[in-house]
Amino acid sequence: MKIARVTLSDRATAGVYADTSGPEIERIAAQFFAEPLEWTRVLLPDDRAALEAALRHLADEAQCPLILTTGGTGPAPRDITPEATRAVLEKELPGFGEIMRLRSHEKAKTAILSRATAGVRGRSLIINLPGRPRAIGECLPLLVPAIAEALDHIAGFRPALHPPPA
Ligand code: MTE
Repeated sequence: MKIARVTLSDRATAGVYADTSGPEIERIAAQFFAEPLEWTRVLLPDDRAALEAALRHLADEAQCPLILTTGGTGPAPRDITPEATRAVLEKELPGFGEIMRLRSHEKAKTAILSRATAGVRGRSLIINLPGRPRAIGECLPLLVPAIAEALDHIAGFRPALHPPPA
C-alpha cells in the first residue's frame, strides 16, 4: 500500500533539529497495517501554498490512497495545516479530528489545541496528525479501523490489519 507522510515544521526543514515525527508515523503504521507499505516522505516548512501543492500532487499525480500529515495543527501564527488541508479536500471527515481531541484529552489536557481535520480528495484519504511523536502514538492507533473502512469506500480496497494484541 502506498502511504505518504508529510511533516510540517519550519525548524526541521531548516535543519535546526531532525524530523522525528515522520519516522514515528512509519513505526506506528507498521504495527497496525499487515500490508507492505511503500512510503513517500515529504518535509515542508509551515507554508500553506507549499502544503496545498504537495497534497494535490500526492493525491492526484502520485495517487497515494493514504496521506498523513504531522504538525502545524495548533493555534500558533505559522500553524496552517488544517487550512491547507481543507482547501484541497472534496469532502471533510471531521470525525477523525474529533476523536483525536476527545481521546487524547484523557492523556493530555492540551489536546484541545489541535485543530486537526481529515477528508477525501479523489481516491485519497488525507488525515492531519499532531506534531509531537508522543501525540502521534496517542492518536494514530485510534484511527486505524476507520482508515481501513474509509479506504474501502474511497480507494476500493481494504488494507489488511494485524490482529489486535491479546
Ligand atoms: N495530542 C496528544 N495526543 N498529545 C499531545 O501531547 N499536544 C497538543 C495537541 N494535541 C498533544 C496533542 C498541543 S500542545 C498542540 S499545540 C496541538 O496538538 C497542536 O500541535 P501541532 O501544531 O504540532 O500539530
